[in-house]
This record gives sequence, structure tokens and C-alpha cells, in this order.
Amino acid sequence: MPYIQRIAINHVSLKLKRMKITPSFLFLITALTILPTMTAIGAEKDSPAAIQMKQIGKSFKTLSTQISDPAKKDSSLQIVDAIQNAVNAARPLIPAPAAKLQGDSLKTYMREYAKGLDELDANLQDLKKAISSGDTSASQGLLETITKLKKTYHSDLR
Ligand code: HEM
Repeated sequence: MPYIQRIAINHVSLKLKRMKITPSFLFLITALTILPTMTAIGAEKDSPAAIQMKQIGKSFKTLSTQISDPAKKDSSLQIVDAIQNAVNAARPLIPAPAAKLQGDSLKTYMREYAKGLDELDANLQDLKKAISSGDTSASQGLLETITKLKKTYHSDLR
């Protein structure tokens, strides 16, 4: 390595040392700067349908924890309303897996998707009735039915 280059490198390392910036510290800073960008590039954005589904998922979890609590009846009814709103918001959306389909397979997929959301909505209506009348065991049964429905449609459509 030419003399002048060696001098320059020594000079920079000396300065870094004086600033207490070790090579491992430099590496850490670089990693912390680059990593979030790489993650943002690698992570796929949720589709609008997935955003509604995640909303349904959160509400459903809360509902499951309080379904047997008669004191939370009004809150539970509001949660079911929120789920129904998310179901309606999801209806006109095209889920991510459908983006690569065309023609008849797209039609079949979207018909199945609409059917799943209809069945979910019908169960939510029954759930509202069960919660309103304070029928805990019917409410719990309906939560189980909805969980099964979710599994069936997810394995078909996701
Ligand atoms: C209470 C019942 C349900 C819950 C809690 C639920 C929850 C979820 C969650 C958390 C996701 C993942 C979102 C993501 O991270 O990408 C998802 C995706 C999906 N769900 Fe559901 N789901 C339910 C019922 C249903 C039903 C009945 C259908 C049938 C129409 C359905 C169709 C889909 C589809 C197509 C996706 C993929 C969306 C996309 O990636 O664009 N889900 N669901």
C-alpha cells in the first residue's frame, strides 16, 4: 500500500479511536441504519382485505375473553357490530391470493370468498341474538362454529 494511503488510514483510525469509535461500534451503527430499510423492502404490505381480517381477528379475540361475562353484554354486542362492519368492508375487496388469478378461477375464488363472508355474517347475527338473550352456552357454541368456519375458508382461500 502506498505510503500516503497508509498515513491516511492511520490518521482516520487514530481519530476514530480518540472519539472512542471502535470498529464494532461502527458496524453496529451501520447495521442499525441499514436494517430498517432492508426490513421495509422485504416486508410485504398487508392487502386491504388482510387489514379488515386482522381487525376481525383482534375483535374476535377480545370477544372470546368476555363472552361469558354478563356484565360485558353491551360491550360484546358492540364488538360483534364492529366485526360485522369489517366483514362488510371486506366484501368488495380482492384478497391478495386472488391477485394472481384470472377468468374462471378468479370468479370461483371470489364466489367462495363472498360465500364465506355471508356465512360469517349469518353466524354473527345468531351470535348477537344469543348474547342479547344472555345465552352463554349458545354464544360459546357460535364462537366455536365461527372458528371452524375460519379454518375451512382459510385453508381454501389463503
Ligand atoms: C372470525 C373469523 C376470522 C378471523 C379471526 C380471520 C382472521 C384473518 C387473519 C388474521 C388473516 C391474516 C391477515 C394477514 O396477516 O395477512 C386473514 C386472512 C384472510 N382471511 Fe380471514 N378470518 C376469519 C374468517 C374468514 C372467513 C370466513 C373467510 C372467508 C371469506 C376469510 C378469508 C380470508 C382471506 C381470503 C384472507 C387473505 C387476505 C389477503 O391476504 O388479502 N377469513 N383472516
